[in-house]
Amino acid sequence: MRLTVFGSTGRTGRQVLAEGNRRGHRITAFTRRPDTIADPSTLAAVVRGDGRDPDAVRAAIINADAVIAIIAAPSRKGPHHIADVARTITGVMSETGVRRLVITSAYPIVGTKPRLPIALLKLVFADAYADGAAMEHLVSTSGLDWTIARLNRLTDEPPRGTIHTSRDLLDRPSAMTRTDAAAALLDIVEEETLTRTAVNIAGAR
Ligand SMILES: NC(=O)c1ccc[n+]([C@@H]2O[C@H](COP(=O)([O-])OP(=O)(O)OC[C@H]3O[C@@H](n4cnc5c(N)ncnc54)[C@H](OP(=O)(O)O)[C@@H]3O)[C@@H](O)[C@H]2O)c1
Repeated sequence: MRLTVFGSTGRTGRQVLAEGNRRGHRITAFTRRPDTIADPSTLAAVVRGDGRDPDAVRAAIINADAVIAIIAAPSRKGPHHIADVARTITGVMSETGVRRLVITSAYPIVGTKPRLPIALLKLVFADAYADGAAMEHLVSTSGLDWTIARLNRLTDEPPRGTIHTSRDLLDRPSAMTRTDAAAALLDIVEEETLTRTAVNIAGAR
């Protein structure tokens, strides 16, 4: 597939580029910091820009079969751009006829169990989750073939190869490795079954 990846220099984004290349996809990486892309020669293209800039976003997705967006703030305090970036990406996708979007979110936005840890996360990450909830509303009303992939706590440990994906709320929202999360995002974009839905993803139990 011709994939455009937003958040391509992020810790999960890098794993999506590596695994996407291994799977034979032709990847366009979008970033504000092209100098941090380890090996641009493995990519179809690198597009520099901010995800809130429609012209830059258009240049990156114009010929894509699908878009994967993995946007996060640099810290708990922000700046939080995920809803603004999603507004730009969905607008440009609607305009250009690119229909398939997989975008990451955070599971605690909707999670309820375990009660105390989730309540604490909602308090500490209130601004980030408000931005994520606004993004989810925009994406789910976009009319595109979207999947919201709600991730749990991410680690940079070696891949474990097991991931739990469900449309239902999770009993045990376990941490997962970024490598396993990247593989799950690619599995979702390659399948046609999980469109117009949000899925909740956790690591091995
Ligand atoms: N960390 C966790 O434990 C955790 C838990 C639950 C869910 N999640 C979700 O998992 C996903 C991946 O997290 P991560 O830790 O791998 O992310 P990360 O390393 O912090 O990378 C974030 C990416 O967001 C991009 N970005 C931010 N603002 C942007 C803008 N205005 N325009 C374009 N790109 C922008 C950055 O791109 P450039 O700087 O290259 O432009 C960067 O590549 C995120 O959606 C996060 O919310 C994370």
